[in-house]
Amino acid sequence: MGKKIVWRCPSNIAIVKYWGKRQNQIPASSSVSMTLTESYTEVELELSEKTKDGIELEYFFEDEKNEGFAKRILDYANSVKNQLPVLTESRMVIQSRNSFPHSAGIASSASSFGAISLALLDASFPGKYVNDRYEFLKRASFLARIGSGSACRSMFAPFSIWGKNKLVRESSDEYAIPDVDIHPTFRDVCDSILIVDSTPKKFSSSFGHSLMRGHPYARQRFEQGNRRTVEIIDILERGDWEKFIHLTESDALTLHAMMMTSESPYLLMKPGTLLAIEKIQHLRKEKGISVCFTLDAGPNVHVLYPSEIKDQVVTFLESSMTGIVNQIIHDKTGKGPEKLR
Ligand code: DP6
Repeated sequence: MGKKIVWRCPSNIAIVKYWGKRQNQIPASSSVSMTLTESYTEVELELSEKTKDGIELEYFFEDEKNEGFAKRILDYANSVKNQLPVLTESRMVIQSRNSFPHSAGIASSASSFGAISLALLDASFPGKYVNDRYEFLKRASFLARIGSGSACRSMFAPFSIWGKNKLVRESSDEYAIPDVDIHPTFRDVCDSILIVDSTPKKFSSSFGHSLMRGHPYARQRFEQGNRRTVEIIDILERGDWEKFIHLTESDALTLHAMMMTSESPYLLMKPGTLLAIEKIQHLRKEKGISVCFTLDAGPNVHVLYPSEIKDQVVTFLESSMTGIVNQIIHDKTGKGPEKLR
């Protein structure tokens, strides 16, 4: 049996969305996300002696050979092999597992590429970063971005910023940075994920990003994304839920508006998505509480609220969403990636 390394990497949900990219996974505008805790991928990387030339990598997803994702991982490995010696020096078996059910329709590329990058980096440079966790995570973020853009933000918690923004110090297109000045009310945010539809995605994120090239509103959207990045950093620092709600919901709808107004228009929201959104907005108005929604590139609804009102919101969701949603996953801000072995 070879040496085994195990990393857990959480998923993240964007507040200011990344939508549109250039060559080499460079984002068209900056984004800000919240790192979760219950929704994660665990990757076990087993190393042994090589038996032939080239990259020797076997990939299992939940104990099964998943050819589609295995090909994506191999392409990824080829594109980063010059930066990760382990890829050419050892034979590797990767076992990947998600904490959330496969059928939930939750995008897993962020947590998967996050966990894979962490394990490969750790295996490539044992001991090098023992005294500098920040440098390690920054490097892992750089590598994760090459696999999937949003993955680079999962390295930091509770909030991360990705994309060069002239008003944000140390921001970069190549890796994410942690947002450090967070008001206590935003250090503990709940995200109840309403699974409206769990059928596999018909349109990949990559396809969506590509439609931003030549999109009639591209320039305005990218400027808005950069502006909103600065706004949300200020909101998170001041602890302003009212402004957070307004910006978060607007950015989610803008993301979907971009899909609907592209050259090949498409719609990812389902009737249940709209019903759930109406109920959340109604709850907010009726009870005067801080609760809002966001969406990723799919029909599921993320319900965000401060942890102090968790009981009230959970009770509401469990009773009012029957018949609209298949499942609810209660998640919250976490602490970022963790080495398990
Ligand atoms: C809507 O990171 O999945 O979730 O870089 O092509 O892998 P690739 O795209 P991906 O796009 C995420 C899009 C989004 C918004 C976001 O997470 O910022």
